[in-house]
Amino acid sequence: MDIFVDTADLDEIKEAESWGILDGVTTNPSLIKSAVESAKGDIRLEKHIEEILKTVDGPVSLEATKVDSEGMIKEAETLYEKFNPVNDNVVVKIPINTAMDKGDDNFEGVKAIKVLSEKGIPVNCTLVMKPNQALMAAKAGADYVSPFLGRIDDYIRNQIGLERGQDYPKGTYYPEELTERIRETGLRRRISELDRSDIVYQDEPTMELYDWGNDQGIRSGIDLVWSIKEIFKNYSFDTKIIAASIRTARQARSCAEIGAEIATIPFDVIEDMMDHLKTSEGMKSFDDDVIPEYKEILED
Ligand code: E4P
Repeated sequence: MDIFVDTADLDEIKEAESWGILDGVTTNPSLIKSAVESAKGDIRLEKHIEEILKTVDGPVSLEATKVDSEGMIKEAETLYEKFNPVNDNVVVKIPINTAMDKGDDNFEGVKAIKVLSEKGIPVNCTLVMKPNQALMAAKAGADYVSPFLGRIDDYIRNQIGLERGQDYPKGTYYPEELTERIRETGLRRRISELDRSDIVYQDEPTMELYDWGNDQGIRSGIDLVWSIKEIFKNYSFDTKIIAASIRTARQARSCAEIGAEIATIPFDVIEDMMDHLKTSEGMKSFDDDVIPEYKEILED
């Protein structure tokens, strides 16, 4: 699995790059905002973006901000012309749709993707929350799609919590009482292929739980990525999946288990992926047991 870091913080990008595990970077307007805010004015954004591009020899996503296809195409061209010469690694992020309210046009994203793919500008289709959106993006010619699995897990967990009067914290986003039901009702094949406790299953979906545009067939963020993978396989799309909006090391692991090609992961979660209490305990005891004779050999 390729690992991208989901940040615009240059120190984090440089650090992850120095570890030898970094394959790319994803940014978005919120991540750029937080990098600029934390630099407290000590940042020239254009230079900062150039530095990011030079630091990583892999795709770096920069997002367009307009809501109409023409505006997005123009911004994508600007981003590509301005920054791609730096290290030939710019990918432009285009939302699957730019509707902010029910009834707004929801096809501007695919229109922009179609034009940009014909122009040879690589596109990462962002804000993908259901498999049908990924299918549309792939048909329009997106090079990457980014399913936001963490936001889907948050959403499902919060909806179920509301219905049950429970406040499920982030770390328990797969409540045990629900995973029990998976066992009882012996569900779909794919559920048994995954870590059972990684799935939220709602056996009696109600419309109240699934509002505007939602996909009743999706049971978790990982299930979303899995479904997109199956669809792309069925039709041999070249579009790559970037599992995005990852909140925990466990989600990152599940992405690898289901064979996501790429996961874009926040820096602190990448750090978490390497920690283990027993590794540290083991390290300490090995460290305590180094005898002088062995040290001497090593210092030769
Ligand atoms: C994807 O490329 C996005 O930058 C990102 O994963 C969004 O995640 P969030 O839900 O943490 O904002």
